[in-house]
Amino acid sequence: MTTVIDGKIAAASVIEAVKAAAAGLEAEAGVKTGLAVVIVGDDPASHTYVGAKGRMAKECGFNSIQHTLPAETTQGELASLVQSLNDDLSIHGILVQLPLPKHLDSDAIIQSIKPEKDVDGLHVVNAGKLATGDLATGLISCTPAGAMLLVRSIHGEDLSGLNAVVIGRSNLFGKPMAQLLLNANATVTIAHSRTRDLASVARGADILVAAVGRPEMVKAAWIKPGATVIDVGINRIDAPERGEGKSRLVGDVAFAEVSEVARAITPVPGGVGPMTIAMLMANTVIAAHRAAGRKPPKF
Ligand code: GUN
Repeated sequence: MTTVIDGKIAAASVIEAVKAAAAGLEAEAGVKTGLAVVIVGDDPASHTYVGAKGRMAKECGFNSIQHTLPAETTQGELASLVQSLNDDLSIHGILVQLPLPKHLDSDAIIQSIKPEKDVDGLHVVNAGKLATGDLATGLISCTPAGAMLLVRSIHGEDLSGLNAVVIGRSNLFGKPMAQLLLNANATVTIAHSRTRDLASVARGADILVAAVGRPEMVKAAWIKPGATVIDVGINRIDAPERGEGKSRLVGDVAFAEVSEVARAITPVPGGVGPMTIAMLMANTVIAAHRAAGRKPPKF
């Protein structure tokens, strides 16, 4: 029987642990965990994501602040907002929603966030700590951290002897995911659009992580029987069978056929997706504990 890994249940259990940790920090140290989310412009999808992050932060008992800036905001204005949030002792996590409007230099903004408040895990200091195996003092990018938690729910902490293949090499996901798997002792291959015979590389994987951004690209023939398949893709495709103009979400993996071969697989939606916000909350409560000189919870 194939296990369909339920990301909603895993995310809910992370959120329960975050709530308990935030309540404990407030009761014992008088510190309310603070998250500031910054959004520039009026991209509707970004506003939906940011709204969900703010609501979840409140549900976790955080002080949740949203800064909504107009699309014409200058680099200097945004930089000075980040600076003031860096200096604000009541704020433990800062997230600048991406993408920023084209006239702004996102990398300069992200790198100006204090690494200890970079709950997105995008600062080079946090990327470097992950790359050097320092998981104890850095902050890990939320989607790979969430995907890794799902891998651990199947295989446990130690992936010794297992081959892991990550398809995708982005700084946001593929590279940190590969580092996390390597840290857990997996033998890791990073494959990408220039890889020769991707199918045969994928077939070597005991753990296959797909982040290619192409709907249902990973087929059953790419899967080693009994493998664990983690699908990071979120693609909206036309669904005329649901009525004219309707669409639906699919992952990068052809779920129906791959679930016949895999031992465990994440669905889309309801797999990795719900984990991202949960790990953002986890990073924020970790940052608040560290700022207060307290031992942070582990997730
Ligand atoms: N836009 C889409 N996903 C993300 C994310 O994980 N972090 C930020 N900052 N922006 C995003």
